Formats: sequence, C-alpha cells, structure tokens
Amino acid sequence: MAKDVIIACDFSDKRTVLDFLGTFGEIKPFVKIGMELFYAEGPDVVKEIKARGHKVFLDLKLHDIPNTVKKAMSVLSGYDVDITDLHAGGTCAMMRAAVEGLTRADGTRPLLVAITQLTSTDGESLKKDLLIDKPMEEVVEHYALNAKVSGLDGVVCSPLEAEKVHAACGKNFITVTPGIRFADGEAGDQKRITTPAKARELGSDYIVVGRPVTAAADPVKAYLRCVSEFLGK
Ligand code: C5P
Repeated sequence: MAKDVIIACDFSDKRTVLDFLGTFGEIKPFVKIGMELFYAEGPDVVKEIKARGHKVFLDLKLHDIPNTVKKAMSVLSGYDVDITDLHAGGTCAMMRAAVEGLTRADGTRPLLVAITQLTSTDGESLKKDLLIDKPMEEVVEHYALNAKVSGLDGVVCSPLEAEKVHAACGKNFITVTPGIRFADGEAGDQKRITTPAKARELGSDYIVVGRPVTAAADPVKAYLRCVSEFLGK
C-alpha cells in the first residue's frame, strides 16, 4: 500500500498555486485540489498540475442523486486524476452509480474514496445538527462498510478512526486522513485531529495537510517535516 503526504492546496487562483508548488523545485508533492481552486479555475488547473509531475487528489465531494453523480463522475474520469471523492451520506446507490460513471471504457479509473464524516464535525454536531444518535466511530465504520460494498477503494476519515476502518474493511481499504496538525500548531476549525507521527502509528495511508503547510513561514520545511514524521524518512 502506497503511503504519502497530500498537500491541500486551498488557494483561489492558478497563479498562487503554481508559484507555491514552484517553491518545491524537484520535489513533487501529491496535491489536493479542492472546490475553491477548481471552481475558480476549472479543469485546466488539474491538467497543468498533472503535467508538472504531481499526483492529484480532486476533492469535489460529490453528493446528489445517483444519476447526476454518475454523469458527473464520467466527466471527471477524463481528467486523469489519481484520487477523487464523494460523500458516503449519498447512499450506496449513489456510490455504486459513481463507480460506474468513473470507470473508463478500458476498465481503468481513478481511486474513489468516500467522505464518512467531515473532520470538522464532532459528536455534538452529529447529534444536534444531523440527528444522528450513534457514536461517531460507529457512524464512520458503518459508512466505510457501505463504501466498501459499493465498490469504492477507501474513505476519508479522521486519523483517529483509521484503525477501526482497517479492522472493519481490511488493510487494503485506503484511509485518507485530513485533520492533521503539528503538536505545536493550531487546530483552527478542525476537531478530530492528530499529528503526522500519530497518524502513522494509527495506520493512515494518506495524510492530507493544508494550513500547517500552506500557511507556514517555510512551507517546504513544513512539508518535509510531515514526510519525515509520517513516512519516517
Ligand atoms: O487546512 P487543513 O489541514 O485543515 O485542510 C484540510 C483539508 O482537508 C481541507 O481542504 C478540507 O476541505 C479537507 N477535508 C477535511 N475533512 C474531510 C475531508 C476533506 O478537512 N473529512
């Protein structure tokens, strides 16, 4: 199983993201392109970052009726990204439709992972806002099993839940884990967080790190610190 650090490039324009990635020189980090950048720049930014030698996680978190998601995924399958995602809350029917839409005529497709519960959601908002009475871990495990039976490759969850997901769905079922903070950093709006070293210990496959790298005084140094803590390199 490939393990890696993915930088969440939550910038609003292409110039800023390309300048940012340019500072890494020959190092080509795995890049996450989210809604902000994609809505601002469209597919071109994906193609350009891929052409520069980066792997791309296109994080658009689809959630709609199965037919709409299937058609949207079939458009995304043309972008040659490495990972893309949707919300497991859209049901198994939606996830199965997504796999169908994403699969190209030759049978290949990007990895598809499902958001279980956002790492900014805590137990209280789960209960109060979403009316879900079950404990967070149980909800995440159930959504992960739904993703697995629907044919997906893994889930996005908190690193704190990675062990449980692997126990339920197998060690080859990928866990992509945001909510990463350095021990001496700020949490911001994230709730279910941990450090890169702890995420490694808990068995995360990919950690997604945004502001601790992008807002650091020296982003390359911060990225290399994540790599060394997470991959032990
Ligand atoms: O800046 P920070 O490290 O909090 O960035 C985390 C990134 O991971 C953001 O781009 C956010 O959209 C994304 N994400 C998340 N929780 C999820 C799925 C994605 O924080 N469950």
